[in-house]
Amino acid sequence: MTGEELVTRAEAAAANAYAPYSRYLVGASVLARDGRIFDGVNVENAAYPLGICAEKTAIGRAASEGLKPGDLEAIGITASPCGGCRQWLHEWRIGRVWFRREDGSIAEYEPAGLLPDTWNLPDS
Ligand code: THU
Repeated sequence: MTGEELVTRAEAAAANAYAPYSRYLVGASVLARDGRIFDGVNVENAAYPLGICAEKTAIGRAASEGLKPGDLEAIGITASPCGGCRQWLHEWRIGRVWFRREDGSIAEYEPAGLLPDTWNLPDS
């Protein structure tokens, strides 16, 4: 699957975002190494800090089906991932990260390139 295909899928998923406060609809689609795809959207809350990002929803769906860090080949996102989500992408050792830039092009990164000198638990 190409980055364009996975990001296009995330853009379709974004239509289901629950974002009545920001009105900023985000979608993320995770491609597992076994071929399954898990879509996620941002889910906001009236207590604003409690909202969750689309990337976390998608990874959470994969986790709920029993997938573990290392099981995810790629993620497509409708926009550049926030700092907190970059830590999640690192934890899950996602192979490639694709997202749509504002100029319409597709950015491709490995998680390490999105979060240099990443923090880890000292004993992990
Ligand atoms: N958002 C995401 O879903 N992912 C990101 O990586 C950046 C931000 C959401 C959170 C909030 O619902 C909305 O975008 C505006 O910040």
